[in-house]
Amino acid sequence: MTPRNLIATDDWPDDEIRAVLARAAELKAGAAGASFAGKALIMVFFNPSLRTRTSFEVAMARHGGHAVVLEPGKGAWTIETRSGVVMDGEAVEHIVEAARVLGRYGEAVAVRAFPSADTWAEARRDEVVRAFADHAGVPTINMESARRHPCQGLADAQTLQENFGAQPRGRRFVLTWSWHPKPLPTAVPASAALAAARLGMEVVVARPPGYDLDPDDMATIKAVADRNGGTVEVTDNLDAAVTGADAVYAKSWGCLDDFGTPEAEAARRAPHRGWIVNEDRMSATRDGAGIFLHCLPVRRNVVVTDGVLDGPWSRVTDQAENRLHAQRAVLETMLSNRGEK
Ligand code: CP
Repeated sequence: MTPRNLIATDDWPDDEIRAVLARAAELKAGAAGASFAGKALIMVFFNPSLRTRTSFEVAMARHGGHAVVLEPGKGAWTIETRSGVVMDGEAVEHIVEAARVLGRYGEAVAVRAFPSADTWAEARRDEVVRAFADHAGVPTINMESARRHPCQGLADAQTLQENFGAQPRGRRFVLTWSWHPKPLPTAVPASAALAAARLGMEVVVARPPGYDLDPDDMATIKAVADRNGGTVEVTDNLDAAVTGADAVYAKSWGCLDDFGTPEAEAARRAPHRGWIVNEDRMSATRDGAGIFLHCLPVRRNVVVTDGVLDGPWSRVTDQAENRLHAQRAVLETMLSNRGEK
């Protein structure tokens, strides 16, 4: 049987996402969780993490299971991720063997692999996480790749539901690009927009010219919004976008046309330092009471001001907490034995 994977929330039907979100809310409210006794989640981190690693480890422990963390090149062998190469360099282990072996030890595998390719055309294929899914033989969870951060998207959706109800149709969700000293992946903004689209919200993507998300991702966000009663709009006017908004989600991402050429990207980004979420912009939201969201980690006074993060608008800590509950619900679904704890 093909194992159930979570590479992107858009691979899962609406009713299953709704069920995961409902279950996440139940678990957060204190419902007894399924037992993962004797089960292991093997996590492979090619990149650092605070929230993802901790919340998955705690989730497994809370259900009586066990989490193993591997960091290739740091205590675990360096992994070659390309196909068909002569492995006469630094890497001593190939991703195919790594995935096959880890799938024999654990009931599920989870992988974080940010883009490392030279071009967006290559990076957008998310080959590392997909290789694990192809070869592990057990359910594979994407813990953030170039294109998607599905667990973040689920926590984002849970946070939106907590503030606006289970079906917040008609509420305005503004995803705003922010200035940042480095070009970052588009996984979080694409996943956040998908989360709001799935809830039928009015999604507005505010970004400077040149900072469009991947066209296929925009088409997917539009399709998800259409079938859930939502809308999608793109603008380069941040102040107009936040006026009357219900939720403002800040995230920086790199220009995809400049992917692999950081100097060109830095020059393109330089004029846009004013793209920051501050108290004036949050005061312009609906009744001055819109909520502020960010996946974290966030650079204070670069992406968002202290006054917003420490003010009444911010829900970023709730969002981070919801990673734990959303992932417990995902693990219950994927490890599928709903016994009593
Ligand atoms: N939001 C998120 O994924 O946080 P970490 O990078 O700390 O895991």
